[in-house]
Amino acid sequence: MATWGSCGSGAAFNQPQWMQIQFNEEKPEFNKLPTKTGHRSLTRSISQSSTDSLSSGCGESSEEESSPRDKLQRNSKGLADFCIKNIDQADFGRREIEVAQQEMPALMNLRKRAEEEKPLSGAKVVGCTHITAQTAVLIETLVALGAQCRWVACNIFSTQNAVAAAVVEGGVPVFAWKGESEDDFWWCIDRSVCADAWQPNMILDDGGDLTHWIYKKYPSLLKRIRGIVEESVTGVFRLYQLSKAGKLCVPAMNVNDSVTKQKFDNLYCCRESILDGLKRTTDVMFGGKQVLVCGYGEVGKGCCSALKALGAVVYVTEVDPICALQACMDGFRVLKLSEVIRQADMVITCTGNKNVVVREHLDRMKNGCIVCNMGHSNTEIDLVSLHTSELKWERVRPQVDHIIWPDGKRIVLLAEGRLLNLSCSTVPSFVLSITATTQALALIELFNAPEGRYKQDVYLLPKKMDEYVASLHLATFDAHLSELSDDQAKYLGISKNGPFKPSYYRY
Ligand SMILES: NC(=O)c1ccc[n+]([C@@H]2O[C@H](COP(=O)([O-])OP(=O)(O)OC[C@H]3O[C@@H](n4cnc5c(N)ncnc54)[C@H](O)[C@@H]3O)[C@@H](O)[C@H]2O)c1
Repeated sequence: MATWGSCGSGAAFNQPQWMQIQFNEEKPEFNKLPTKTGHRSLTRSISQSSTDSLSSGCGESSEEESSPRDKLQRNSKGLADFCIKNIDQADFGRREIEVAQQEMPALMNLRKRAEEEKPLSGAKVVGCTHITAQTAVLIETLVALGAQCRWVACNIFSTQNAVAAAVVEGGVPVFAWKGESEDDFWWCIDRSVCADAWQPNMILDDGGDLTHWIYKKYPSLLKRIRGIVEESVTGVFRLYQLSKAGKLCVPAMNVNDSVTKQKFDNLYCCRESILDGLKRTTDVMFGGKQVLVCGYGEVGKGCCSALKALGAVVYVTEVDPICALQACMDGFRVLKLSEVIRQADMVITCTGNKNVVVREHLDRMKNGCIVCNMGHSNTEIDLVSLHTSELKWERVRPQVDHIIWPDGKRIVLLAEGRLLNLSCSTVPSFVLSITATTQALALIELFNAPEGRYKQDVYLLPKKMDEYVASLHLATFDAHLSELSDDQAKYLGISKNGPFKPSYYRY
């Protein structure tokens, strides 16, 4: 364990042996991957549609509709400490996990490298995330690295029931099923925390609900917790609020703002999934369409570049002159929403803000305009203003509503203003692998940090670890990194082994 002792923010960072980067050795393993086409068709995500198709593959439709809370189930080893839809689906779930593993090479690599050292030996991780095949790969990696885990869903709709069954069959208690009620949701969180002879010492959260529950119901547990790892904007915001109020009593790692999350999940994930979500729901053709993208941050940049590549005419709205200038330099016309709203065929919000598209804009849109959100939750489009007596709502497909104005004009609203890609498309496992690897490393770092390195505050992952996450993924592309000579390293004033950039570098 001593190998972890010298790594920290700003401190000298000695890599454990399994963290050494050896691309040549990794390459043959990745050459075994099937073709990209094969991956794409098999990849699962947290989308509603994919969980639906998964369910039908597992014969869930024939199940009786009793609540999992009323059933006593056991896995094949006699474990009864879990609550999921149906343990009999474990074999289907295992196949899903195996497919995801192929697109999550870094986690698999981490398993192999750190399996002997077991840097999470003694860690008791309670996790609250989407329960999908990709999360299962993360959970099983944590177990391979020595952790004991209990898991719960952070979302009532996104659980892949068969995957949950496979994870339970593997010995990890899971409390989650697709279609939980609000009451079930909190009951599951409570069960995940509260177990006989088991108390968590690490929290992995996505959204902050688990952390909130422990703060509210089990504050005494916090004395044992060595660290919280939080992935979401909302959860991180809550942690900073606690910290500001002097109420954060545990060190926390903000994974959301890691370079490896922001630059990959927000940018590349959205670049790939925006088209998928729009196609699946509307069959729209992009060439020549006039598309208005609100917000030119990472998500907006990803969406714009994908749409431009397919021949769409893209307009951008921005409030920040720097991002607006970036949009201009990338070849997009920056206008006010009111200036372009009448001619838009599609309007996509990516701002993280609220009420960006309001009734006044919706009233002025042309017939057939598609409206959707890739940004924050369901706040960006003012939906309340669309629930008025003169407007008729017509569900034309799952996740597709036509809103009909008195003169017959129809607006096509996707996913009721929730995130289009998470609701209507798949999200690439490879991108999730980057975030999941960051989460795993954040847990390892917080768990092994010597007393005093992290105070009761919110931290970013040390840059060296961000670089390590990236390096673990490079082998997939058979990328060969150049090395600095001693002289060059001295000239730049950095170590030959990184970190290669100062913390303020923006990439
Ligand atoms: N759909 C997904 O898969 C996904 C992935 C990652 C993040 N997100 C979410 O997307 C949102 C945006 O993320 P980001 O990384 O691009 O953030 P960001 O802060 O980099 O970009 C948002 C941009 O919107 C601009 N903006 C704010 N209010 C505006 C307004 N009223 N009109 C026009 N522009 C406005 C800001 O100036 C900023 O440049 C966040 O809520 C984030 O949580 C979604």
